[in-house]
Amino acid sequence: MTVVNARGTAPSLLTGGRADFPAGFVWGAATASYQIEGAAAEDGRGRSIWDAFSHTPGKVAGGDTGDVACDHYHRYAEDVRLMAELGLHAYRFSVAWPRIQADGTGPANPLGLAFYDRLVDELLAAGITPYTTLYHWDLPQALQERGGWADRDTAYRFAEYAELVHARLGDRVGHWTTLNEPWVSAFLGYASGVHAPGEQDPAAAFRAAHHLLLGHGLAARALRAAGAREISLVVNSAPVLTPAQVADPSAPVAEADAEAVRRVDALLTRQFLDPALRGEYPAEVLEIVERHGGLAHLADGDLEVIRQPIDLVGINYYNPCVVESGPGEPANPAWPGTEDVRFCPAEGPLTAMGWPIVPTGLSRLLLRLAADYPEVGLIVTENGAAFDDTVEEDGRVRDTRRTAYLDGHLRAVHAAIEGGADLRGYIVWSLLDNFEWAEGYRRRFGIVHVDFDTQRRTLKDSALWYRDVIQRNGVLEKA
Ligand code: FCB
Repeated sequence: MTVVNARGTAPSLLTGGRADFPAGFVWGAATASYQIEGAAAEDGRGRSIWDAFSHTPGKVAGGDTGDVACDHYHRYAEDVRLMAELGLHAYRFSVAWPRIQADGTGPANPLGLAFYDRLVDELLAAGITPYTTLYHWDLPQALQERGGWADRDTAYRFAEYAELVHARLGDRVGHWTTLNEPWVSAFLGYASGVHAPGEQDPAAAFRAAHHLLLGHGLAARALRAAGAREISLVVNSAPVLTPAQVADPSAPVAEADAEAVRRVDALLTRQFLDPALRGEYPAEVLEIVERHGGLAHLADGDLEVIRQPIDLVGINYYNPCVVESGPGEPANPAWPGTEDVRFCPAEGPLTAMGWPIVPTGLSRLLLRLAADYPEVGLIVTENGAAFDDTVEEDGRVRDTRRTAYLDGHLRAVHAAIEGGADLRGYIVWSLLDNFEWAEGYRRRFGIVHVDFDTQRRTLKDSALWYRDVIQRNGVLEKA
């Protein structure tokens, strides 16, 4: 094991030297159903909260919707060929719940299941392992009309849906993720309202967070009983830092700032991982929830259900969360309970999303999670960057900044492994340019460029670079 220095990073990261990954390390790429599939009204698919939201004027940039997206529903075979060309070991995709149950209840729609059946077979024939996520934000609109995740019943509906999907794909799919980023579902969906269903009700957001966790526990239990081999929960975690710590992790932190950091970390990460892995909520989260509508939605026995033995936690990392004490500041709309906290503007090099590029944040995060939750393995399930890419006249997309972003973050992953983290793989976000939620199509995260007028796919330079990384199972010296 390499000695980790004060920055929590191993020498390979700092010097830009060659970094080889362990044998068996999984290399993949990810997408999500609503972001790529299109075919929104085909084969019995019902409406989801994202159909309703994106068709509401003013909610998504440019009035974009996922009606057509990357037309992956029809072009999946071509997309799997691209994955094979890149040498991907794994493809992380999500199942659209309203394709399986148009209204979120009742028997499975055979045509909806058949699509994922074809996709899985195509992947397996290409030697690519499917990593299936059951919920990446497209809740059936009919369930939303009954309260959505703010209503307890949705958790039970989710577990039933999980069983239906597993019953059809479980003979060929071993890797199952229950939820993608429950913090985003609950707090962007029900508190800030920037995402579907667009509600602005902090009490509903905390209820949603709990019911998402309950749904995770119920689904994980059902999947395990049905024989699922590997079960995971995917969270959008990030190190919470003061501005000074971004550049210098050993910078001193004043007590008031430390309190702001602890509170935001509790809301972002521990609110989800403590119940799922330890069967308890952090005290500071319970205190905040109590102030926002009370605790009546936490029923006896829920925490035992939520705490299921799972194999992996998936980490989606893009940038650190930077805060400091801010006396008199109102709570951030996405973060009920953050009165007197200032969320600091991003500094330094930024992606097209305006997100700061801080690769060391990933090594710090992974090492911290490995130390705090040693009972579970880790996998990076999303990491990547949006830039304004264009296809040049010679047909190339010279996305050098994306390659640099990925290279830096892979060095951070490597440093975390050398520091002792049980990290099983790295899955880039995203395979394809796609519908970036409230940002619509103007934000391109793909390593493959998509021309949304012609549906033409073009491998960006970063995809070719990633292919070589996979082939050699490592990154080279930095140029
Ligand atoms: C994550 C989402 C994913 C994508 C990236 C950029 O929060 O899981 O669908 O939008 O952000």
